[in-house]
Amino acid sequence: MKRLTVPKIRRRKVDGVTEEPLVMLTAYTARQAQLLDAHCDLLLVGDSLGQVIYGLPSTIPVTLEMMANHGAAVVRGSYHSVVVVDLPFGSYEASKEQAFESASYLLKETGAAAVKLEGGEAMAETVEFLNKRGIPVMGHVGLTPQAVNVLGGYMARGRSESEADKIVNDAKALDDAGAFAVVIEGVVEPIAIEVTKAIACPTIGIGASAQCDGQVLVTEDMLGMFERVPRFVKKYDDIASMIEKTVESYASEVRDRSFPGEAQTYQPKK
Ligand code: KIV
Ligand code: NA
Repeated sequence: MKRLTVPKIRRRKVDGVTEEPLVMLTAYTARQAQLLDAHCDLLLVGDSLGQVIYGLPSTIPVTLEMMANHGAAVVRGSYHSVVVVDLPFGSYEASKEQAFESASYLLKETGAAAVKLEGGEAMAETVEFLNKRGIPVMGHVGLTPQAVNVLGGYMARGRSESEADKIVNDAKALDDAGAFAVVIEGVVEPIAIEVTKAIACPTIGIGASAQCDGQVLVTEDMLGMFERVPRFVKKYDDIASMIEKTVESYASEVRDRSFPGEAQTYQPKK
């Protein structure tokens, strides 16, 4: 299987219609990427790794180095999906030149095909600058977690008319600037649908709408690795319970000396 490309992803939406929705999941490690790769169109090395992997309180402290290390692991573990790496907070907002420096560093270090950044109109010039210089960009509007200190929390967006207008305008600005796709996160459904109809490039929803051109979830949330997940996450499994049960078995076998058994020990040849 040859790796998908950014233009192929972009072309999945033709004249406003996406026949088969795009499948995206987050991945942070090589093994995780191996398991997800064949089932996905895109793997996102999200800065959500701050909370999921590092136990940080938000995505704000995530560094370029973290993104580079995990991005490289995910590229090594995949051969089919387009790998997109998040630009972390503070690595791209100051200027389009700063964004290019950070994004080119990530692409060089990881071998990923594209970056994602948060923000709409304010980032449009940057998106165009990067795209024209060889770096495809995925946008991200609505609930943008890097703006938690401005938004005041992680609540759904687009409930007031002015907020809804801003989300639509942000997505349009990114689309016009050449973004190849736009994540819509935590937005009331009618606005997610409006954005999906209003822009030419595919929308990828998370807490948005089944009518988006694709969907994304944080893999650990979807697998049930975490107790507390946002309302918009569907838990497809309860991996945390499986891990606990398995570890319980191991611990009790160590304590009663039934592990290691005959099959796991080496004996001298007779
Ligand atoms: O960091 C992340 O996991 C994301 C997705 C939730 C879209 O940005
Ligand atoms: Na992110």
